[in-house]
Amino acid sequence: MNTLLDLLSQEAGKAFAEAGYDAALGRVTVSNRPDLCEYQCNGAMAGAKQYHKAPIQIAGEVAEKLSGSAYFSEVAAVAPGFLNLKVSEGALAEYLKEVAADEKFGTPLPEKPLKIILDYGGANVAKPLHVGHLRSAIIGEALKRMLRYAGHEVIGDVHLGDWGLQMGLVIAAIEEQQPELVYFDPGFTGTYPEEAPFTISDLEEIYPKASARSKEDADFKAKAMEATHQLQIGNPGYRALWDQMMKVSLKDLKKNYDSLNVTFDLWKGESSVQDRIPAMVQRLKDEGYAYLSDGALVVDVKEDTDTKEMPPCMILKSDGASLYNTTDLATMEERVELYHPDWMVYMTDKRQSLYFEQVFRCARKTGIVPGDTKLTFLGFGTMNGTDGKPFKTRDGGVMRLEMLIGDTRAEMLRKIREGRPVTEEEAQATADIVALAAIKYGDLSNQASKDYIFDIDRFTSFEGDTGPYILYTVVRIKSILAKYEENGGRIPARDALVPAVGEDEKKLQMVLSGFGAMMAGAAQELAPHKLCGYLYDLANAFNKFYHETPILAETDPVRREGLVALLVLARDVLETAVHALGFDAPSKM
Ligand code: ARG
Repeated sequence: MNTLLDLLSQEAGKAFAEAGYDAALGRVTVSNRPDLCEYQCNGAMAGAKQYHKAPIQIAGEVAEKLSGSAYFSEVAAVAPGFLNLKVSEGALAEYLKEVAADEKFGTPLPEKPLKIILDYGGANVAKPLHVGHLRSAIIGEALKRMLRYAGHEVIGDVHLGDWGLQMGLVIAAIEEQQPELVYFDPGFTGTYPEEAPFTISDLEEIYPKASARSKEDADFKAKAMEATHQLQIGNPGYRALWDQMMKVSLKDLKKNYDSLNVTFDLWKGESSVQDRIPAMVQRLKDEGYAYLSDGALVVDVKEDTDTKEMPPCMILKSDGASLYNTTDLATMEERVELYHPDWMVYMTDKRQSLYFEQVFRCARKTGIVPGDTKLTFLGFGTMNGTDGKPFKTRDGGVMRLEMLIGDTRAEMLRKIREGRPVTEEEAQATADIVALAAIKYGDLSNQASKDYIFDIDRFTSFEGDTGPYILYTVVRIKSILAKYEENGGRIPARDALVPAVGEDEKKLQMVLSGFGAMMAGAAQELAPHKLCGYLYDLANAFNKFYHETPILAETDPVRREGLVALLVLARDVLETAVHALGFDAPSKM
């Protein structure tokens, strides 16, 4: 479907052509002076040079041609040569009817959908999830849903960290504590036990201790590195123990992602591409890309135009162990082979940006990724506490996801109980849904690359630019509609809309008519914050409209039905957008 701006641009373009100018000059945009007009066209300014005329003269001629247009209720040529425009209520309502009847509310679909691989989540096995993983999961899930909505084919891969030193650290620590386990008996030939020798809580204790120790105890660190290497080259006992870690850890991770409404199409990880590494490394050597430097195998990725330092991309450590880079390169190779993606997008903390620059360059240089496959690294900022420092628990530890959700939920519950009277059961159920919205919206409404402050009190507020405010608006519409039905009203089809009467009604219609263009743009730009900004505008436009306009008390039946249709459309667009961000609206609040 065309966007409203496209239609208005076509109309203005016709007028430019009729006045003897290039129709392409008729590009209409949303006004950046909403106090003066709704839309604007700067084509006369752009055409002045080409036609050797004063812009105001061109604008004046075009304005005259537009004066009878059914699309515009106001057209003014103003100095030095702008066209200030207002859309006519009739044209707006006609357009909005089409939007209302369209399955995607006017979202322009791509001619050729892109195949996109989103690499997000990125949890590490046997290592607790931290807030960076939370951000990656929240942003990635929103992008997956937005890009799908915008008509693309998206494959989400969690890309688990399951092959690195953390595995060796845990193995070495267990081996030291329980050397008698069969996993450490090199002569063992039977089948390894079904039961894991640890629980998830054990693992979560083992890793941080082992990690801290490796920083002080060089011997232990060497053991962990050796265990990592042994695991990677296929030591059967270590592999069996690793299988157990995967099993225990994955169960816990899935539970965590479930509680965040985050799902993946692929549960692959660093370990999934082990088999590819030897051949890939061999090729990089044979073709002269990789060479030995201080014992390690590296590929140069420097370019002449670099202004910052660009260290080579390391492919193998001097002990032959593969690293984060190696598995990422092999994963790219596999993704290209299996899925032929047009675009691969990676989401981690922005501190990994140099790393991804190196890996991307290496992948291009060595032909692992073809030139027409786009590669994007979306680095996000740090989530800080209200003290402005990276978010920690009260006792200074790393925040566990469950705790973060739990604390937010408790505050949400308190605010819900404080509001209107609700049953305890209702309050609990609502708190579950709304707390998730508070956390996700609080994150997504910031531009991803920026740091932000996780402020439970603000995020759970029903007022302001928050998730609960958005959901409150949806619930409010639902309850008006329920009341209308209780009074014997019949819910009309969404396209029973009527032309707007007042300013607030028109504003709401204009915001709704902009959904499709906004959605396509926000998805393409990987910018969930733009969708949040839209939601906030829409919620505000709705609440203002609702405040100013009697709906159920409207006596003209056609207009009343039209207003109810507008409510239905607003509800559906709000809910669609909320869902695309990765959360849901409750039925009551
Ligand atoms: N496991 C990594 C970490 O915790 C994130 C993985 C991101 N994806 C990737 N393909 N490297 O930092």
